[in-house]
Amino acid sequence: MKKTSRPVAWKLTRIVKPFEAEVLLEVFKQAGMPAPHYLETSAGENVRLEMVYTQKPPRLAGWKCVPLADFDLAANNALEKPLRIGRTWMVMPSGTEGKKEKQRHRLVVEAGMGFGSGKHETTRLCLEMLEDAPVGKSCLDLGAGSGILAIAAEKIGFKQVVAVELDPKAVSNAKRNARLNGIRRIEWIRADLGRWKNERAYDLVMANLLAGLLVEQAGRVAGWVRRGGRLICSGILRRQANDVCHAFSSRGMRFEEKKVRGKWCALRFSRAVTYSGNSILVEKAVREPRPPFVAK
Ligand SMILES: C[S@@+](CC[C@H](N)C(=O)[O-])C[C@H]1O[C@@H](n2cnc3c(N)ncnc32)[C@H](O)[C@@H]1O
Repeated sequence: MKKTSRPVAWKLTRIVKPFEAEVLLEVFKQAGMPAPHYLETSAGENVRLEMVYTQKPPRLAGWKCVPLADFDLAANNALEKPLRIGRTWMVMPSGTEGKKEKQRHRLVVEAGMGFGSGKHETTRLCLEMLEDAPVGKSCLDLGAGSGILAIAAEKIGFKQVVAVELDPKAVSNAKRNARLNGIRRIEWIRADLGRWKNERAYDLVMANLLAGLLVEQAGRVAGWVRRGGRLICSGILRRQANDVCHAFSSRGMRFEEKKVRGKWCALRFSRAVTYSGNSILVEKAVREPRPPFVAK
């Protein structure tokens, strides 16, 4: 790929203490700017806030702003070789052939504007949980990024898949990825899930977002899971699991499983057909996690 000098996006980053991160995310929200969606522990106790903007962000004291060209963005997200995930997935960089494996679904992902090449733990955890979830009729992917989870859901047999994503460039990239996978039926919606008007409920909802956003939107997200349906949440640092669990269990969701990879975890819930509202038991279950997940 040829390097272009014209920036197509800007990456804002800042290393802060965890308590400062919460305050800063609130500042972004108040300013009406999409908040950094990539939060990761770096050296020691610090966390890194990072967000790629497709319009030049205002100058912000304390933040590093790096212009990105197409090439940089693609490199940021790129998958160098096929990646096996769980028992049933094989993520392929576009343009590679690779050996077909009968027991694995191929997911072709082109490096582009959307997060989700399969390299990051949060995506892997979702794909691992997806392969164990019952296949229903409808699936909602919140924060679709590259579209990898929505594409995977349709590949395993969900008939109605809806994917919601804030970033318009990620949506175009996700549509392209769907075409590369021969997938035509996904409904792509460019929207902020906090403002998205939706009346439908789904058999499976997947939400690989930040813990803060999950907690904030728990009431709406839980309402989009039909009775008896499942919810997979990812993008959660291990120390944030209890907060996320509490937010959903107090909205009628029953905690079922926690999977851990490094400092990240994903949680699976079901919406009870009748709800007994016992969030204390749910919290206890999270504090006493199952043995760590071992990759196959
Ligand atoms: C961690 S990425 C997940 C991407 C992909 N689903 C995966 O699992 O790899 C989170 C995505 O959510 C999107 N996002 C963040 N806030 C959002 C919001 N309020 N509404 C819709 N999408 C949002 C981001 O643009 C980003 O693409």
